Amino acid sequence: MAPVQCPRVPADDAARLRARLTEAGYTPGKKDVAPLIALAADAEAGRAVRKALAKAPAALVADAARAALSTADDATGAALLAILGDAAATAPAARAALIAGLDDARPRTRRAAVVALGKLGGDDAAAALCALWDRGDHDPALRRALADALGKVGGPAAHARLAAATTDDRELARRRDRALVISERDALVDASGLRRDQPPPFPLTIVAHCRSGLEPLLAAELHELGVPPVRLGDGRVMARASATLATLATPRIATAIAIVVPLAAATADGIADALTSDAALPLLTAWTDGAIRWRLDFERGGHRRALVWAAAAAARARATALVNQPRDTTWDVVVTADEQHLELRPRGLGDARFAWRVAEIPAASHPTIAAALARVATPDATTTAWDPFVGSGGELCELARLTDGALYASDLDERSLAAATANLGAAGALARTTVACADALTHAPPPVDVIISNPPMGMRLRGDVGALLERFAARVPARLTRRGRLVWLTPVAGRTGAPLAAAGLRRTYARAVDLGGHEVMLERWDR
Ligand SMILES: C[S@@+](CC[C@H](N)C(=O)[O-])C[C@H]1O[C@@H](n2cnc3c(N)ncnc32)[C@H](O)[C@@H]1O
Repeated sequence: MAPVQCPRVPADDAARLRARLTEAGYTPGKKDVAPLIALAADAEAGRAVRKALAKAPAALVADAARAALSTADDATGAALLAILGDAAATAPAARAALIAGLDDARPRTRRAAVVALGKLGGDDAAAALCALWDRGDHDPALRRALADALGKVGGPAAHARLAAATTDDRELARRRDRALVISERDALVDASGLRRDQPPPFPLTIVAHCRSGLEPLLAAELHELGVPPVRLGDGRVMARASATLATLATPRIATAIAIVVPLAAATADGIADALTSDAALPLLTAWTDGAIRWRLDFERGGHRRALVWAAAAAARARATALVNQPRDTTWDVVVTADEQHLELRPRGLGDARFAWRVAEIPAASHPTIAAALARVATPDATTTAWDPFVGSGGELCELARLTDGALYASDLDERSLAAATANLGAAGALARTTVACADALTHAPPPVDVIISNPPMGMRLRGDVGALLERFAARVPARLTRRGRLVWLTPVAGRTGAPLAAAGLRRTYARAVDLGGHEVMLERWDR
């Protein structure tokens, strides 16, 4: 017997329900469930109907959808199966109807059952999907949907079927490969981590990234660590390294460290070849505990999802230890802007450097900038210091690592001072810090060896920040000891330099630094 349409909803009722479906918080009551089910295949209302029914009692929805299913045409049947899929997490009857739907004679309805069971998962769904796959009597659209569903439900039985599947259907092959990537990464429960103390199997070319302008300071840091820099670019320092990851995690001015691997072509096969090359795979294997979880990114930006999937499948086909996994990733694999290299960036490598950062303010310095200022200040064990615009205290926290001298922290804003107090406490430096809520233009702590600051730049401050900084600069000479120096960032170097030079201070360091699209001068002035 040919299937017939669902019973029609009386016109008044349909109009009332359509109006209710447009209300943001609409939750259907019991009496609305059956009429809504009757609207399920409606081209205009269908999506809203499904959304609304997901909020109704699942058992009621399941009963109404099952009742409507027997007389529905194919399109309506598919819509009903999707609704049953939403109800199935809590309504066993819906689950049973989905499994029965795998034998439905209506092709779209049957496919909808496959899709819903793939999303639902569970042993019974996996077994039923595997049984259907084994029958093999399907049209190409159903076979493709089945490949997707098997990837989602995962488990050894589904995985074995996908891995054994051969086909001339290119679309099915693409979906099979993607399903294999998904089922493998979801099966991965073992921890994956970095081996920080393992030397590399061969000398590496690395790139250390930093804020533009800080390259020479970062190069000096790398040099001290026995990682000789070979070239400086914009915001990057290239180096040769035979160091452990623990050593590579230490430069305080680096925003990221990566191992550089040549890339012949930014295609799926090119990326997979580079990842499994002798320059990459032995290193990834040596430096990773457990599976090598990786995710693909592009320095130029964009998601390029088709390429990501294809590269994941191609890499997996070459080396099963490589598991493309966007969550809990161990390695970020980045295609460089020139598409000539892959950068292998160990995730979270340098996070422990700034453990003092327990409190934040909107204007906080990037910790690598604070580290750069502290480095330029060249403190010794007794150096005393004042940050007159202390904010959350980044600069003083970084400086406190290098000196045991007294510290002075002041700011006009109480919330900033609370953050600075927390951070200096975490840095173990609070006991030797005097904290004051005070105006930088009037406050007068004892003269110090270093005034260090990332002052307001005018982004958040109303009024003429140049005038504020100029007036502060005029106060600096009187607030310094005889060996004193000012190390700071200034957005108005021409204006702030005049009073400093007039007081006999010499500018001994000056370099333009990018604060995220805003260029300022990192300066040091000495007596
Ligand atoms: C860029 S933020 C400092 C960021 C800080 N280095 C950090 O890591 O959080 C500038 C700070 O200057 C403070 N400020 C602005 N005008 C001030 C003034 N006249 N005297 C003292 N502090 C001031 C603001 O409250 C703000 O906390």
